[in-house]
Amino acid sequence: MTDRTLTLSNEEFQLLRQFVLRSIGVNLTEAKRSLVVSRLSKQVRKLGFSSFSEYLKLVKEDKQEKENMFNMITTNVTKFFREQHHFEYITKDFLPQFAASQDKVVRIWTSACSSGEEPYSIAMSLEKALKSYRNLNYKLLASDINTEMLQKAKLGIYRREEVEGVPYDELKSFFKMGQGDNEGLLKVKESLQKKIVFQRINLVSDQQYPIKEKVHIIFCRNVFIYFSKDTQMQILKRFHEHLHQGGILILGHSESIPLSQGGWRLIQKTIYEKTD
Ligand SMILES: C[S@@+](CC[C@H](N)C(=O)[O-])C[C@H]1O[C@@H](n2cnc3c(N)ncnc32)[C@H](O)[C@@H]1O
Repeated sequence: MTDRTLTLSNEEFQLLRQFVLRSIGVNLTEAKRSLVVSRLSKQVRKLGFSSFSEYLKLVKEDKQEKENMFNMITTNVTKFFREQHHFEYITKDFLPQFAASQDKVVRIWTSACSSGEEPYSIAMSLEKALKSYRNLNYKLLASDINTEMLQKAKLGIYRREEVEGVPYDELKSFFKMGQGDNEGLLKVKESLQKKIVFQRINLVSDQQYPIKEKVHIIFCRNVFIYFSKDTQMQILKRFHEHLHQGGILILGHSESIPLSQGGWRLIQKTIYEKTD
């Protein structure tokens, strides 16, 4: 059977949409329909099904296939040092203020970390900046819903094109060149990898986020764009609870928080402070 014979009916698309929306918050609009077909067709055929309905039935019953489907449906575009001003804010504005407080460990949660470029960029920035603050340290939790991306993040192996945004000094300090089978690839050094805990967390889960201690900074960049306004508000409420007073929330370049309801103050474009 070829891709062409597999069609996604309106009813099937609505069922799939509702399921994805309820489970992970991703709002598959009509414009995403062909993307869904192209991303899932191969898997539907591989499993020997002749329709998306059959596939969806399996997804609802089988935890592993549900995970596979979320891995295929999520968009994971990212890059090293994306939106550079966020890293500058942390090292030049946040750290000096933090250093004047009682706390000695900056706790950061990057909540949609994709394949790791974001947490590694944060870690590299902090490693460099903390040389001027010898008594400070940091803890970094990196999470995502997509287990394949988390696996890549944990491995920390990237192609040359993927590390293009990494400045030369950081490349030299934090990466090693692959050899043998890994020729042409670059691997994040273990000393940096060890600083990051990678974990699967669904931002839309019914359960509490598995984070015991409050954090000082949450990165949630370029994922709200896939969620409805209601879902964004629910997640914001939970972020608010997980942040220390005065903690920082960093969103993606086209994302924002409505400030009328209180609780947040805009400090710089896409950077918010928890106020009460
Ligand atoms: C476009 S990427 C953004 C990556 C990175 N934050 C950046 O700005 O470069 C969006 C990420 O959100 C993740 N995601 C989507 N829905 C999620 C959910 N319900 N919980 C956690 N992560 C989710 C996707 O798997 C994907 O890796």
